[in-house]
Amino acid sequence: MSRIELRQVSKRWGDVTAVEPTDLVIEDGEFVAILGPSGCGKSTTLFMLAGIYVPSEGEIRFDKAVVNEVEARDRNVGIVFQSYALYPHMTVRDNILFPLRFKKIPQHEAQFRATAAAALVRVEELLERKPGQLSGGQQQRVALARALVKEPQLLLLDEPLSNLDASLRMTMRSEIRALQRKLGVTTILVTHDQIEATTMADRVICMSKGRIEQIGSADDLYHRPDSLFVASFIGSPPINRIEGRAEGGRFLAGTIALPLRGAAAGDVVLGVRPEALRLGEGDLSAMVTDIEPHGREAIYHLTTPLGELRALEAGATPRFAVGARLPVAIASSLVFDRISGRRVAGATLEAGI
Ligand SMILES: Nc1ncnc2c1ncn2[C@@H]1O[C@H](COP(=O)(O)OP(=O)(O)OP(=O)(O)O)[C@@H](O)[C@H]1O
Ligand SMILES: [Mg+2]
Repeated sequence: MSRIELRQVSKRWGDVTAVEPTDLVIEDGEFVAILGPSGCGKSTTLFMLAGIYVPSEGEIRFDKAVVNEVEARDRNVGIVFQSYALYPHMTVRDNILFPLRFKKIPQHEAQFRATAAAALVRVEELLERKPGQLSGGQQQRVALARALVKEPQLLLLDEPLSNLDASLRMTMRSEIRALQRKLGVTTILVTHDQIEATTMADRVICMSKGRIEQIGSADDLYHRPDSLFVASFIGSPPINRIEGRAEGGRFLAGTIALPLRGAAAGDVVLGVRPEALRLGEGDLSAMVTDIEPHGREAIYHLTTPLGELRALEAGATPRFAVGARLPVAIASSLVFDRISGRRVAGATLEAGI
């Protein structure tokens, strides 16, 4: 097991910067997720940790040792790629054994470890098959067994569940999480799926454009986002964004002025989570333009003096119909500086507006 540290680690190709100089510490045994949109540098970060890419600058440390120059196969890292990348002509057994080929391990011990890794992910019945004879979920498990057979000090998972259907993905989420707890291996999961990140990891690293935007728990990212990017990326349906001005203790947007607490000033964006809009209460007049029923809850599209807003309300049957006019209250809100995109800590509309 290992504590992983990045010190000012970056990756550039010509004038493309995939990862800006980054500092990061991952504690021994921790499970972290790197979450961010396509192209933000998630895989690049993982590949630098795996030894597949050499950083342009900075130091990568496993425990105290700098590993920048250590070859991938000498790093004792297990990796599951975005595509499972199993060798189609080899049996499952040989695929799992593959990472041990350069290690001086007696044949019988290698076989024992391959069988143990297969049992861990419940594919021991499939050892003599070829990958083409397996389902997607089984292939995914084999890829995981192959990553674990070396007893890695670091496990890297790059979108391992992206090719699975929704129900299998949910099963594999909890299986991987349980396996990680059992083995105690330091694990980094790359994903652009916020549910996957927040349900599996102890801490989530939210990335955008090659930079870490915020590191925190699911609760931190949702309720205390540092930036409008994080606030907008986390949460579904996304947070409502209302542009306006903060002036003299009020939030001004169009003809509306609402009492504001905290130190916000100038051009701001008010962020309101869909579930923070309370239908049928308050002073804001709204009209329902559309309703999306989702079984246990419904999403309302509203026209209001603050613009088009989306509200989420629990309940199997929507309480209002399209065309209904109703008052709406804002139960909680976040305030962001419009220029910097940073959240103004402590700033919020007065409760219950
Ligand atoms: N070998 C390469 N040469 C040049 N540019 C690259 C190379 N690999 C990645 N990039 C660029 O670096 C940036 C980050 O890529 P990366 O693969 O790390 O993104 P990602 O966050 O994993 O995205 P995705 O979710 O789509 O997998 C992208 O702009 C990409 O085009
Ligand atoms: Mg990627």
